[in-house]
Amino acid sequence: MQIKFMDETETAETAILEKNNFTHPWSEQDYMEHLHDEDKIYLTAVQDSIVVGSCVLWCSFETADLCNIVVDAAHRREGIAEALLYQAFQECAGKDVEQILLEVRESNRAAIGLYDKLGFERISLRKNYYRDPREHAVIMQKKL
Ligand SMILES: CC(C)(COP(=O)(O)OP(=O)(O)OC[C@H]1O[C@@H](n2cnc3c(N)ncnc32)[C@H](O)[C@@H]1OP(=O)(O)O)[C@@H](O)C(=O)NCCC(=O)NCCS
Repeated sequence: MQIKFMDETETAETAILEKNNFTHPWSEQDYMEHLHDEDKIYLTAVQDSIVVGSCVLWCSFETADLCNIVVDAAHRREGIAEALLYQAFQECAGKDVEQILLEVRESNRAAIGLYDKLGFERISLRKNYYRDPREHAVIMQKKL
């Protein structure tokens, strides 16, 4: 498995991963739009030439927002999300980012387990932030 920068040929596959996992997924066009922006980090995890995971962070000065992270259901618990985030931490450090922020559905045990393991801390709750279904968002922060 290889972690790499996403390229144009991977946006369609990544959008399918999104569609299979989120009620409001990013489209292929959404991925294409900012793929090469200097202040954004688009990573894929590739195994046997197939995209099995991806993550996206948008950086603004000292803060990066983790916008998306997803791993193919057939490849969960293989350490792929962890590998994506470790690479993302390195890319962030290279851009002088000091903290990563994210929001996550409070029922998303897998994602919260991942963020806990990697040292994110809960800093607040955004009530009824999500729709379809309506749910609170836990806001988490990792200081780099
Ligand atoms: C959350 C997600 C990205 C995790 O991907 P993954 O590749 O399976 O995660 P990893 O294998 O790297 O797991 C790393 C750690 O996260 C935690 N974790 C992962 N899945 C978990 C689960 N189902 N339950 C509890 N903890 C879990 C564990 O601490 C795990 O370490 P361990 O395997 O040594 O116990 C994946 O479940 C996913 O794509 N979910 C759907 C999309 C999503 O919810 N994205 C997050 C939006 S905020």
